[in-house]
Amino acid sequence: MFQPDLLRGQTLLITGGGTGLGRAMAERAAALGAAVGVLGRRTEPLEEAVAAIRAAGGSAAWASADVRDPAAVAGAVDQIEAALGPLTGLVNNAAGNFLAATEDLSPNAFNAVVQIVLNGTFHTTQELGRRWIERGGGGVILSIVTTYAWMGSPFVVPSACAKAGVLAMTRSLAVEWATYGIRANAIAPGPFPTEGAFSRLMPEDMAQKALEAVPLKRFGRLDELADLSVFLLSPMAAFINGECVVIDGGEWLHNGQEFGRFTDLPRDRVKAMLEALKPKR
Ligand code: HXC
Ligand code: NAP
Repeated sequence: MFQPDLLRGQTLLITGGGTGLGRAMAERAAALGAAVGVLGRRTEPLEEAVAAIRAAGGSAAWASADVRDPAAVAGAVDQIEAALGPLTGLVNNAAGNFLAATEDLSPNAFNAVVQIVLNGTFHTTQELGRRWIERGGGGVILSIVTTYAWMGSPFVVPSACAKAGVLAMTRSLAVEWATYGIRANAIAPGPFPTEGAFSRLMPEDMAQKALEAVPLKRFGRLDELADLSVFLLSPMAAFINGECVVIDGGEWLHNGQEFGRFTDLPRDRVKAMLEALKPKR
């Protein structure tokens, strides 16, 4: 569907690019011509992602850093730029999350998630933003949030607070940094089966319910998310700025809509119920 050289000339930094959605986005961007730098804490998945991209003919490099540490982020960006040249795009994808009852959270548990998701996104965004403003060539930012950034959600309060902050950051910078030719957008995925997310957030006996909550009755595919990210990073989306694109099969609307639960029943049963409610003449 895309031109094979859609991202030629772009150099992207993808945080959390060694695993899950980050790796899928990294591989897809590289296949379309971008040079891709991946950043995370563990070296092994980063090395594997870079090896896979290079084996497929792409250009990639990795750097290990904790996004909570601004000095480490700056060092990692230096490393990636030394390997691949000046970065032109940033995907804020690194995250931490777990299920917990809010009353049981320790201060450090709340901080761990908020500092990875919100502070970490700020550190990478400010680091790249400063470089782009100084260089004058613009840039593109894409942050991965989720639909509970505006819905809120029980049992993931630190993540919900942090993702809401990232969405606010995205919309704020879309205006503030447009002056410098920098676009900022977000993607809000629904459930995508990755090891990192599902091992922490999808207890086995909830999986069927989670599936049923999606009107399309399936989870997302990693290639679908990767294609959306590529579009938003590419010149095809040059006029899209400050937007958050939902990719969830209709899940959040379904769960919020008054009669959405009707679609959980077989349609002939729904129709029989509706028929029974009709006034008898
Ligand atoms: C309660 C917990 C906890 C849990 C950790 N903590 N796990 N509290 N329930 N399940 C507490 C610890 O006890 C500690 O507090 C504090 O959190 C920090 O824990 P550490 O293990 O020291 O932190 P750290 O090594 O920095 O690891 C961060 C992490 C971990 C967030 C806890 O899970 C991680 O590294 N995650 C990265 C990958 C990830 O989470 N991927 C999923 C993203 S999916 P105390 O007080 O004891 O010191 C996603 C999907 C969203 O976001 C939408 C889905 C639809
Ligand atoms: P994942 O594989 O666990 O991805 C998280 C990545 O972030 C890992 O590569 C991890 O690598 C990195 N990371 C975590 N803490 C970090 C830190 N302090 N510094 C640097 N890197 C760090 O999970 P995923 O499902 O692909 O999630 C990717 C993104 O999609 C996240 O933003 C998540 O919130 C979002 N999302 C996912 C889903 C879903 O259903 N999968 C739904 C909605 C939104 P290290 O541990 O090696 O550092």
